[in-house]
Amino acid sequence: MTNQEIPTRILAIETSCDETAAAVVENGRIILSNVIASQIDIHAQFGGVFPEVASRQHIEVIYPVVAQALEEAHLGLEDLDCLAVTQGPGLVGSLLVGVNMAKGLALARNKPFLGINHIEGHVYSPWLMPDADEIAFPVLTLVVSGGHTELYLMVDHGRYQHLGGTLDDAAGEAFDKVGRLLGLPYPGGPAIEKAARDGNPHAFKFPRAVLDDGFNFSFSGLKTAVLRQTRQYSPYKLPVNDLAASFQAAVVDVLVTKTERAAMAYGVTAVHLVGGVSANRALRQAMKERLDIPVRVPDFILCTDNAAMIGAAAHWHFSKGRRDTLNLDVIPSLQLD
Ligand code: KG4
Ligand code: ZN
Repeated sequence: MTNQEIPTRILAIETSCDETAAAVVENGRIILSNVIASQIDIHAQFGGVFPEVASRQHIEVIYPVVAQALEEAHLGLEDLDCLAVTQGPGLVGSLLVGVNMAKGLALARNKPFLGINHIEGHVYSPWLMPDADEIAFPVLTLVVSGGHTELYLMVDHGRYQHLGGTLDDAAGEAFDKVGRLLGLPYPGGPAIEKAARDGNPHAFKFPRAVLDDGFNFSFSGLKTAVLRQTRQYSPYKLPVNDLAASFQAAVVDVLVTKTERAAMAYGVTAVHLVGGVSANRALRQAMKERLDIPVRVPDFILCTDNAAMIGAAAHWHFSKGRRDTLNLDVIPSLQLD
C-alpha cells in the first residue's frame, strides 16, 4: 500500500451549543461513527438554550460520547491521525469543554490537533453525501442555522467569498422566536414545520423582505408582523397552524429568492443548502423545485449540529498540512471570511 492509499482518520468533537457530539470521519468523506447527545429536552423547559446548563451538561456527557464514537468506529486513539474540534462560533463555556477534551486527547497521544470553524463544518456537510465526487466549484452555499443565515460563493476548498448575510435575526432564530410567540415548544423550527403541515400558507400575507439587489437578509419585520397578527386573537383562539404555515412560506420564499438570484449572478454549478434550518422539508422542496441547477442538501442528521461535519472540514485543513498548537483558544464570535 502506498502512502496515498492509507486513509486519514479524524476524531472530531463538537460542543458549540446544545449538542455534545463526536464522530470519526475517514478521508473527509466516510462517516465511521457519528454520536450526538442532544440537550434539547433539558433546555425546552427554559424555552431556549441556558448557557451554564449547557456547559455543565457537556462536561457530564463528553467522555461517554467520545468513547462511543471510538467504539462504533472500532478504533482506538492510537489509530487516529488527528483530533479536530469546533473552535467557534458558539457559547464560550460550551466550546471550552470540547476544546479541552480534544487538547487533552491530542496531548496524551501526541497527535496533531486542529480547531475548526463551526460554520465551515456546516459548509462541508455535503462532502459526507454519497454523490460528493460530483461536486464541482464554484458552488453557492446557503448556511441557515440558529445563529447564521449566510450566502457563500465557494470557489475552491477553503476559499470563500461572503456574498451576504442576515442584518438582524438568523433564519433559525426567527423560527425559534415565532415558535415562542405561537406557544410552541423549543426549538421553534421543527415545531413550526409540524404545525404548518395542517395550516394554510396563504392564510396570512406576511412581508417578504427582499431588500435590494444584494444578498443580505432581514427577518425582524416578518417576526413583528407575526406578533401583530397574534395580538388580534385571544391566546386560546390563535390560528397556530395557519400562522405557522404562512410564516414558514414567507421565510422559504425569501431564502429561495435570494439564493436563486445569487446562483444566477455567479454561474455556480450547484447550490448547497446546509445548517439546522435546511432540515425543513418545505425549504428543501422549494429550493429544489424553483432552482434549475442541482441543489444538494445533506441527510437530516447532518443538517443540525453534529461532529461528522467538523471532521469533514478538518480533513481538508489536515491534508493541506495545517496543524494547530495546543495554545489554540476558543473564539465565540469566530467568522468565516
Ligand atoms: O445548525 P443548528 O443545529 O445549530 C446552529 O448552528 O445554530 O441549527 C439550529 C436551528 C434552530 O434555530 C432550529 O429551530 C432550526 O435550526 N431548525 C429548523 C428545523 N430543524 C431545526 N428550522 C426549521 N425547520 C426545521 N425542521
Ligand atoms: Zn450549527
